[in-house]
Amino acid sequence: MEHLLFEKRGNTGILTVNRPKALNALNRAVLEELDTFLSETVDSENLRALILTGSGEKGFIAGADIAEMQPMSHIDMLAFCDLGQRVTVLLETIDLVTIAAVNGYALGGGLEMALACDFIYASENAKLGLPEVSLGLIPGFGGTQRLTRAIGMRRAKEMTFTGKMITAQEGLAIGLINKVVPGGQLIDACLEAAQGAEKNGPIAVTQAKRAINMGASLAMADALELEKQCCVTSFATEDRLEGMTAFLEKRKAEFRGR
Ligand code: CAA
Repeated sequence: MEHLLFEKRGNTGILTVNRPKALNALNRAVLEELDTFLSETVDSENLRALILTGSGEKGFIAGADIAEMQPMSHIDMLAFCDLGQRVTVLLETIDLVTIAAVNGYALGGGLEMALACDFIYASENAKLGLPEVSLGLIPGFGGTQRLTRAIGMRRAKEMTFTGKMITAQEGLAIGLINKVVPGGQLIDACLEAAQGAEKNGPIAVTQAKRAINMGASLAMADALELEKQCCVTSFATEDRLEGMTAFLEKRKAEFRGR
């Protein structure tokens, strides 16, 4: 991988977009590497969680690559949006706990990647926004939809129409960010959050992710039906029996993902 770095800490992977000279802007090559990593490579790594971050002190991801987009035709842009959306859907639906470690600018496509993750942790210096309208376009990697679902229509419209960046603390106040930590502690805080989920039944966690993600776009009656199916799927596992038996025997459960 030319533009991505990957390392493992236990069952958690840390995937770093590594184009610091362009504040980790997403060009086709980076998006294609992310697509291949998330759809193929990640399966062989035996992970429970994945942290997505950016290289350098200043940038998580400062958006799609403006220099690469500037000469594109609208047909090229359609293919580019398809690729960007494929990556965000992979991040959103993968059977892992995904955490965006926002260590600086998360703008445009960068915020769109973070929004596709399960949790967003940010450093104190992080700045987040969808500045696309200042370039004469709108977000195309899912930002208008995921931001609205995350913070509500009125706040999403304000951020999208003005293109204004917000601070990590402002993001925390409106529920966009889960936690703000000093820069040097960001990855450790993400690892701790990942471990908090990893100690639990793996099938239960992925079924909960499915119920929350898929239920969000369903009518309540259908969402409740989906939840029931996900609950019964988790109930049918050996892990459920182990979890309940361990509770009754006053010991720590040993989950095997079965
Ligand atoms: N695309 C390409 N290059 C970028 C970039 C981007 N999105 N963001 C930053 N860079 C490059 C800069 O061009 C600069 O390169 P050079 O050193 O070769 O000139 C380098 O990264 C460092 O950036 P700056 O010198 O601008 O750093 P700064 O600290 O002065 O400003 C910034 C930082 C506020 C993030 C500023 O770089 C900026 O506004 N970047 C663009 C952010 C943006 O508009 N993102 C949305 C892109 S559109 C999108 O994402 C579309 C979509 O949804 C599909």
